Amino acid sequence: MRKTLGIILIIMMALFSFSACNNTNQNGGTNHTTANSSNVLIAFFSCTGTTKGVAEHIEAKTGGALYSIVPEEPYTEDDLKYYTNCRADREQNDPDARPAINGSVEKMENYDVIFLGYPIWHGQAPKIIYTFLESYDFSGKTIIPFCTSHSSGIGSSATNLHSLASDATWLDGRRFPSGTSQSTVNDWVDSLGLKFTPDVSAFDLGSGKNGHAPTVTLNSGYEMPILGLGTYSLTGETCKASVKAALDSGVRLIDTAHMYGNEREIGEAIRESNVPREEIFVITKIYPGEQYSHPEEAIQESLDKLDIGYIDMMLLHHPGANDVKAYKAMEKAVADGKIRSLGLSNWYIEEIDDFISQVDIRPALVQNEIHPYYQEQAVVPYMHNLGIVMQAWYPFGGRGHTGELLSDETIVKIAEAHNVTAAQVILRWHLQRGVVAIPGSSDPTHILENISVFDFSLSSEEMNDIAALDRNEKHDWY
Ligand SMILES: Cc1cc2nc3c(=O)[nH]c(=O)nc-3n(C[C@H](O)[C@H](O)[C@H](O)COP(=O)(O)O)c2cc1C
Repeated sequence: MRKTLGIILIIMMALFSFSACNNTNQNGGTNHTTANSSNVLIAFFSCTGTTKGVAEHIEAKTGGALYSIVPEEPYTEDDLKYYTNCRADREQNDPDARPAINGSVEKMENYDVIFLGYPIWHGQAPKIIYTFLESYDFSGKTIIPFCTSHSSGIGSSATNLHSLASDATWLDGRRFPSGTSQSTVNDWVDSLGLKFTPDVSAFDLGSGKNGHAPTVTLNSGYEMPILGLGTYSLTGETCKASVKAALDSGVRLIDTAHMYGNEREIGEAIRESNVPREEIFVITKIYPGEQYSHPEEAIQESLDKLDIGYIDMMLLHHPGANDVKAYKAMEKAVADGKIRSLGLSNWYIEEIDDFISQVDIRPALVQNEIHPYYQEQAVVPYMHNLGIVMQAWYPFGGRGHTGELLSDETIVKIAEAHNVTAAQVILRWHLQRGVVAIPGSSDPTHILENISVFDFSLSSEEMNDIAALDRNEKHDWY
């Protein structure tokens, strides 16, 4: 009799919940919270593994961190025999029940998006979810509830949680049955309208080989090699020969700029090479002044001079009058298929915040002066948190300073220990801290050396020793 009553109750709740459940978020529109694998937390409570399964699918989709809400006193089988006045039944009936949690989320402040999963217990979230929500400050965070159940929908179980974290933005939740597939979860996550950006703070260095640099996935979705050739000061035939030598050595990222006056030669070298166009990633830049005032013409000029079909990435060379206007023209060129990804050069923390609030396409890359004597220790993680790849120009300290840096005692000692050159140590240091490097050279031997940094790695102690060389000493005015 009790069991029949229970089944009727479950069916009624399921019907009610079905009508109450929908897929739009609370604001009725698309949510634009920017999420990346480093700021997503998937917190879940699961006694018999069903909710855990969905949580793991969310983890696979988002790359977020998984956190299991573990009760201090585990629920036994008897505790879960619902409709027997078991422990779970009693807790659900007691408004003050707050079962204690074993452990806690480390660095909750790092998470902006929290998926919160639980099984439906008598139409509601288990009281341990209440304990969880009362344990942290969720202000400014986005919470996305999800649940599993025998048959009930999410119903009021999620909305009844809102008052426990009223400073958070709550998106509508979703109920999943047991056996939910990865693709169902993927579709749901996509439908949330969260903007997911890939984690760009660390590279998959293990997949690199000398002469073959790994790539990083940009927030535009395109892949960019993490080592390239800088071409500042290379012109004419020297420039062409350098690009060819680089392509022959396996370099697939070439950085140029209108201001370098060599886009035409770079385009020629690429077209004359045997390397398919799609395998090469070309960055160019437009310059403040005339070009920012007439950005459409500036973009077209680069396209014409390079003459390689599309431009992989275009940057603004440095902040200046009309930079937002110029960027908007680049956004239009992206929509027209002329440029694939956008970025900025010589942009720092204050400038980036101000800038991204005025544009539609988040920059995929910031290219700044970075080397062991000027490490940008605050800027690099700041940009990474925004999903922006950092790239170093002057990776060896820049003209007039390269000699000093390449003979730096600390670096030379590390180089000797690994039987590599000082330049290779510096490049490896850039890559291990998640910074793409574009050393410039016209010497084929150096070019080959610069892309041969994948057969050794620096220990954390060596990384720390180089970090300690920082003098905050800028070698150029930008
Ligand atoms: C105390 C208790 C109450 C439950 N109440 C409901 C309910 O109201 N509606 C329902 O469909 N399922 C109910 N269930 C079933 C669970 O929601 C379902 O099995 C869930 O998927 C289990 O998740 P888990 O494996 O992650 O623990 C209840 C289960 C328990 C233990």
